Amino acid sequence: MSKWLEARVLENKHWTDALFSLRVEAPDVGFEAGQFARIALEENLARPFSFVNPPQDPVLEFYGIVVPEGPLSPRLAELRVGDRLLVATNPAGFLVLSEVPDADTLWLVSTGTGIAPFLSILRTEAPWRRFRNVVLVHAVRHARELVYRDLIRKISTEKTQLHTVTFVSREAAPGSLAGRIPAAMRDGRLETAAGVTIDQRAHVMLCGNPEMLKDATAALLERGLRKHRRRAPGHITVESFW
Ligand SMILES: Cc1cc2nc3c(=O)[nH]c(=O)nc-3n(C[C@H](O)[C@H](O)[C@H](O)COP(=O)(O)OP(=O)(O)OC[C@H]3O[C@@H](n4cnc5c(N)ncnc54)[C@H](O)[C@@H]3O)c2cc1C
Ligand SMILES: NC(=O)c1ccc[n+]([C@@H]2O[C@H](COP(=O)([O-])OP(=O)(O)OC[C@H]3O[C@@H](n4cnc5c(N)ncnc54)[C@H](OP(=O)(O)O)[C@@H]3O)[C@@H](O)[C@H]2O)c1
Repeated sequence: MSKWLEARVLENKHWTDALFSLRVEAPDVGFEAGQFARIALEENLARPFSFVNPPQDPVLEFYGIVVPEGPLSPRLAELRVGDRLLVATNPAGFLVLSEVPDADTLWLVSTGTGIAPFLSILRTEAPWRRFRNVVLVHAVRHARELVYRDLIRKISTEKTQLHTVTFVSREAAPGSLAGRIPAAMRDGRLETAAGVTIDQRAHVMLCGNPEMLKDATAALLERGLRKHRRRAPGHITVESFW
């Protein structure tokens, strides 16, 4: 049984009609960057959401998309300043750097809202202490869905280890690759764009659309990488959003 904390909405920023970021004031929940908490308006209708903020930041942030037929996300998108949000007190999840073995390059590969946990990880010290290169990959349907650009640009100017690659799949977008991540892993376009190779010295964290996770994992297995398990260290860690 979860226990619940009461949070208050400080801001609900709308990036597009469907994409929103909620910043909420809440008592300390305690989590590791990359983890998620269940959030709710009523206790019997809760959904996991990844923290966007780093653990040291007292304001919690969640990044969401409206699934029009979904029971919770359209209501979250409509929250206003001062409204109540419930946050479960037991954050969880294994998409965290404490579970990742040492590697030369850390790949953080996302579709859609799957970028959320990586934004939290990028704002901690661990990636810069542990990896020679960090590559953030974000794939979206339309260029307007390439969110958090200012934050990512700021981190890039401070951390020269960071390389970023974006994909826009449903319109032409200068500066972004076309198509999908797994195809670009196979034909070399992803490595060329990042300026870093994908080999057994890499660790790849994948988050977002379950079909992307499956297809990208298959592409990486073809390259000789292995799924990571605590008892059998490998190179691939995944978190599915649905
Ligand atoms: C570990 C974990 C972490 C998650 N973190 C986030 C997060 O940070 N931000 C976020 O927006 N969602 C996240 N989700 C998904 C989230 O929990 C909800 O499913 C989502 O907000 C939709 O809720 P709903 O009740 O409206 O619809 P649901 O009944 O939960 O989902 C209906 C359908 O919507 C689609 N869908 C669900 N989530 C998404 C999504 N994120 N992007 C595109 N399509 C989706 C799927 O087809 C799903 O079957 C996460 C899920 C898991 C398991
Ligand atoms: N309310 C609204 O106005 C509105 C607007 C948009 C979306 N939505 C909701 O949000 C959902 C979609 O969210 P989203 O756009 O973030 O998620 P998405 O469908 O997962 O798309 C994000 C990116 O992932 C790619 N992708 C999809 N399947 C893949 C696979 N098997 N391998 C590799 N890449 C893959 C997509 O490419 P492709 O383009 O090639 O598929 C796209 O570039 C919809 O189901 C809808 O309910 C709502």
